[in-house]
Amino acid sequence: MEQQASPQQWVRDQISGLQAGVESVEIDRDAQKKRIKDLLQARDAVLVAHYYTDPEIQALAEETGGCVSDSLEMARFGRDHPASTLVVAGVKFMGETAKILSPDKRVLMPTLEATCSLDIGCPADEFSDFCDQHPDRTVVVYANTSAAVKARADWVVTSSIALKVVDYLDSQGEKILWAPDKHLGSYVQRETGADVLLWDGACIVHDEFKAQGLRDLMAVYPDAAVLVHPESPASVVELADVVGSTTQIINAARDLENRQFIVATDQGIFYKLQQLVPDKEFLIAPTAGNGASCRSCANCPWMAMNALDNLAEALDRGLNEVFVDPGLADKAMMPLDRMLDFARKNL
Ligand code: 13P
Ligand code: SF4
Repeated sequence: MEQQASPQQWVRDQISGLQAGVESVEIDRDAQKKRIKDLLQARDAVLVAHYYTDPEIQALAEETGGCVSDSLEMARFGRDHPASTLVVAGVKFMGETAKILSPDKRVLMPTLEATCSLDIGCPADEFSDFCDQHPDRTVVVYANTSAAVKARADWVVTSSIALKVVDYLDSQGEKILWAPDKHLGSYVQRETGADVLLWDGACIVHDEFKAQGLRDLMAVYPDAAVLVHPESPASVVELADVVGSTTQIINAARDLENRQFIVATDQGIFYKLQQLVPDKEFLIAPTAGNGASCRSCANCPWMAMNALDNLAEALDRGLNEVFVDPGLADKAMMPLDRMLDFARKNL
């Protein structure tokens, strides 16, 4: 009769089975990365990734001469790079922006389902009606919008440049209609003193950061600098040492002398933060209120849809190509060009 394994042996067998599974998953991932690298070359393609994507995708972009950056730099890099295909790992508006700025290039995405709550919360027809009701205002929209919304705008801005553009427009005596992010818009309004009329949109990731939780964490880490993306609520922004775009947050972590940082933005940024300053400590800002039993994970669900397998498939089979209606693209190009021109002169 076959002897039964002891409980201890059974546990050891289970663990070694699991380890074998982990190793084979790792081999698969390595094979997938190699496949993506080969495909990028074979298809004359370059990978343009956002800081919030999976660290493996960010690493691939770096290792293959692509770019990992904020949404402003993604737009610039894609436009200026000579590759005939841009693979944009991020969310839909980033793919659309790349296509508008490079109409002759093929733009692919790992998935076309990756959208953004700001984009969803600002439908073009309702937004156009809102603009029609306020013809005296200069229309400034955040990059996190559809091509149709950009086509209705005078200016597009990203979080890197929003303050400077609105400050400039205010100095010209212009009144602003701002969409869609109410938190970024009210931050810009407070900082510049401009007359800003706000659309009511929010980012579902940054909207979750909680001021009280942040104050509690600051009490535990009194020497930590607090770095906050301006899509966060005003009560959180108020507690920040530095408020800025993803790139501005990374630069602050590099340049400030603090050894610890509390960071209020998507956790994907920790890959770059740890790579640049490995000897510093980073803590995610709290997303749960007092006594709350559940908390969000500070991870954009749409950014997380970019993975190695759908990236490889998109490249291999030319899937998920981004198309923008040429009429809309022409109109959206004007405010986008304004932003890039302004960035060239002022950033
Ligand atoms: P950045 O322009 O700072 O990269 O932000 C884009 C974004 O979607 C933030 O949630
Ligand atoms: Fe949109 Fe927020 Fe995700 Fe950025 S983090 S892409 S603003 S939902």
